[in-house]
Amino acid sequence: ELGPYAHFMQKEIFEQPGAVANTLEMIFNIHSISPELFGSEAENIFRDTNSILILACGTSYHAGLVARYWLETVAGLPCNVEIASEYRYRNPIADPATLVVGISQSGETADTLASLNYAKSLGHRHSLAICNVAESALIRQADLRFLTRAGPEIGVASTKAFTTQLASLLLLTMTLAKMRHKLSNEYEGKMIAALRHLPAALQLALQVEPQVKAWAERFAQKRHALFLGRGVHYPIAMEGALKLKEISYIHAEAYAAGELKHGPLALVDNEMPIVAIAPNDVLLGKLKSNLQEVQARGGELYVFADADSQIQESEHVHVIRLAEHAGLLSPILHTIPLQLLAYHVALQKGTDVDKPRNLAKAVTVE
Ligand code: M6R
Repeated sequence: ELGPYAHFMQKEIFEQPGAVANTLEMIFNIHSISPELFGSEAENIFRDTNSILILACGTSYHAGLVARYWLETVAGLPCNVEIASEYRYRNPIADPATLVVGISQSGETADTLASLNYAKSLGHRHSLAICNVAESALIRQADLRFLTRAGPEIGVASTKAFTTQLASLLLLTMTLAKMRHKLSNEYEGKMIAALRHLPAALQLALQVEPQVKAWAERFAQKRHALFLGRGVHYPIAMEGALKLKEISYIHAEAYAAGELKHGPLALVDNEMPIVAIAPNDVLLGKLKSNLQEVQARGGELYVFADADSQIQESEHVHVIRLAEHAGLLSPILHTIPLQLLAYHVALQKGTDVDKPRNLAKAVTVE
């Protein structure tokens, strides 16, 4: 079953180009995007939608956080993203025209299911499930559904479920943008072409594995790590930190880089590796000045850049550069080296990569 791979996690990381291609299959046959992709009732429901509420846990929650940037920027829709286990015990004010989106690989996460029910009881009219398991409770519970077609994910650490969720959420963003007349024909064509290219772009991103492996040897000696990102790449930093702590048991924390001087900078010394997600986006300039603050305190920087990022390697600044610059799709590509980093650090440490201690694949109890 594992083929040439040592672990399911490794196999699932390398399956991502195919998993994303399967999830986006319809994109290869159409020239324009339509709400039909989300089911026959989607057009009416989307027409009534004036904002989005995303409910999820863990990695699926991080996918939601990325989607918020897309929905605001491309579709002009207000979007809230909530940790399901928190939302279900709050007293939020519901707007019936807010579409509730539940994201879950398994479709069986107890808190996510309960939070969707709760949202409904508060008066939200409609829900959409983004899920990897067709016969799951989440799929049955929601009004609209979109299946990520990642195939079975065995490793406890979620990998291909995340990137396929992101691909689906980008499709949702474009659909809503189009219905709200925010998507020009030209931009739609460009985005479809970019989505078609995504599997090949992921394949290229996977080629950084040997470089990441070399970094992993140094990380395995560390007890703590900081992950930094800004904007849409902040949730990617969060996902990178979650992967590392989950399977290597190294304490990893993610911060929005602008928050550094509000506290975490005190942690920085030459023992603390700092991972930065630094593609060439609108916030790169800001991120670079945050990174200079880290350098000035003796921090060792490990930077994931893209083809267009103006970031120079130096004695304490190590750079791995992805081959392309992916614009809106950049968070999807930047996930790959972070998954590989966690995987190779865990290998160095000899932990049980596919079944990390204390964790279950589907959290079906509260
Ligand atoms: O099946 P779900 O997507 O609802 O699971 C949510 C989380 O339990 C899950 O993403 C968890 O955080 C992963 N182990 C992270 O790798």
